[in-house]
Amino acid sequence: MNISVLVTGNALQVGETAANLIAAHLGLRPSPILGIATGSSPLTTYAHLAQLRRSGHLDVSRTSAFALDEYVGLAAGHRQSYRSVVDREVTTRLALDPTRVFVPDGNADNLDAACLDYEAAIRSSGGIDVQILGIGTNGHIGFNEPGTAFNSRTRVAELSASTRGDNACYFPSLSDVPTRCVTQGIGTILEARRIVLVASGEAKARAVEQALQSAPDTACPASALQGHSRVTFVLDTAAAHLLNPATLAPMQHSSR
Ligand code: PGA
Repeated sequence: MNISVLVTGNALQVGETAANLIAAHLGLRPSPILGIATGSSPLTTYAHLAQLRRSGHLDVSRTSAFALDEYVGLAAGHRQSYRSVVDREVTTRLALDPTRVFVPDGNADNLDAACLDYEAAIRSSGGIDVQILGIGTNGHIGFNEPGTAFNSRTRVAELSASTRGDNACYFPSLSDVPTRCVTQGIGTILEARRIVLVASGEAKARAVEQALQSAPDTACPASALQGHSRVTFVLDTAAAHLLNPATLAPMQHSSR
């Protein structure tokens, strides 16, 4: 098992631990490329990264960022489009240069061409230095739902019923949740030099357990991360509580 697992007390501490790790890695690169995730899990991480920036411990003036995914078909400026969420939660809070922040286009006339362009943009930036990930209750990473091939690339995909249910809280009703998305593929995500996955709360415990303690299988997309050599899971005790302590102990490191 290559994956380092850090277990902290609560979601706030998950954010602090993950942000410190991410900032240390970003600080090693002259023009860092950050992979960003939406959802509730990374919010405490962004909050602490913002604090590090304000206190002069993180310089983001040359940082670029690429988002993992976007809904297909939400009107431009829709509050729940990931473009809007990224603008609000990441670009503004971290004071990133908006011209350096990229989100897949879920409204392109030619979505397949837009997916290829997104892959090309990541590649020509030099590739992701540190990718922040959440994990779905069904084990998804990005919007790569169970069954997705581990070598998948950026593409249009269907959202699973479970993901639409999980995200319905952000929309007036379940029927308003889009059915399709553009997402970086698992193969795309695995090309990041380092990956930091954050998870908190009991609802993630089963997915975290499968990702770390089952053999890699497309039934749990996050289990693909076992094939990457520089991954850290930052968990709170609730998200970690199904992990076998005997397996966990040798995996724990302070950082890498
Ligand atoms: P969440 O979503 O952080 O809102 O729980 C995670 C995910 O679906 O990847």
